[in-house]
Amino acid sequence: MRKVTVVGAGNVGATCANVLAHKDIVKEVVLLDIMGNLAKGKALDMWQQAPVDYYSTYLHGSDNYEETADSDIVVITAGVPRKPGMSRDDLISTNAKIVNLVTESILKYSKNPIIIVVSNPLDVMTLAAYRASGLDSTRVFGMAGILDTARYRAFLAEALQVSPKDIQAVLLGGHGDTMVPLPRYTTVSGIPVTDLIDMATLDKIVERTKMGGGELVQLMGTSAWYAPGAAAAQMVETIVRDEHRIFPCCVLLDGQYGLKDIFLGLPVKLGKNGIEQIIDLKLNDDELKLLHDSASHVKQVIDVFNGMSL
Ligand code: APR
Repeated sequence: MRKVTVVGAGNVGATCANVLAHKDIVKEVVLLDIMGNLAKGKALDMWQQAPVDYYSTYLHGSDNYEETADSDIVVITAGVPRKPGMSRDDLISTNAKIVNLVTESILKYSKNPIIIVVSNPLDVMTLAAYRASGLDSTRVFGMAGILDTARYRAFLAEALQVSPKDIQAVLLGGHGDTMVPLPRYTTVSGIPVTDLIDMATLDKIVERTKMGGGELVQLMGTSAWYAPGAAAAQMVETIVRDEHRIFPCCVLLDGQYGLKDIFLGLPVKLGKNGIEQIIDLKLNDDELKLLHDSASHVKQVIDVFNGMSL
């Protein structure tokens, strides 16, 4: 794999491109934005960082989709971010049109790319890109779970005074306040987290994780970009290196947990062909109920999306 396009040269897209360049794993990164000069300028700035930080990935920016031709992977971050008081779902009418247009434009020049969606509301924007692309569902999926688990892991590392590297976790459901962190599947270097922390503190961390995006919107007046950009770049890396790593990603469900025709976060194995496997967990009744509640919430946003004329 040699070419990655990042659509949207804003906070998340530019961060993703920058982190990706530092990994030095692809030949070329194209940063595309309707604000062409912004994309050109940021990409040029990052290319000028290459001699300082020692990477060879060539970055260039554009507003012309021809320059994205034959991309192996496309990361879609185009759209408007949240402002204080807004939920991710409030973004739907603006971002659905953008994601639809972006996906159609990408497919004109790249025949069978892998598409990673980051724009919010994530679960429904991933569905929008999947429908507009006509690609197999193993090649269109969304970034949310890596970010949400990263927030959860960071909070746990702080509470336990351990390295965030040693915290493993998985999380299910929609990318919103109904997401389902799974303490039963959380370990610190193999030690169940429940052996190390009291339930009241753990419950607080779970709640803070669910509201993690909103906490940052309140602080900054716009949504986060460092962790989201890095999380999307990590998905690209896993695919480029064909690593078969397991991450929670937003994928099309086909009967898992009794759910169908909906994009939701589940743990998957990622490799050079995209989603190689959706990992089935043995959920207990409480976890299953939370997952179904989250799915019902996402379904409501899908209904709004289905009622829109794009
Ligand atoms: N085509 C290409 N780029 C577009 C289009 C379009 N049709 N519409 C908007 N953009 C670009 C904007 O010009 C802007 O540069 O998308 C970029 C978005 O950048 P920011 O406003 O900085 O938003 P950001 O914080 O990066 O968030 C982008 O990711 O995490 C999600 O909720 C977030 O949906 C939002 C998206």
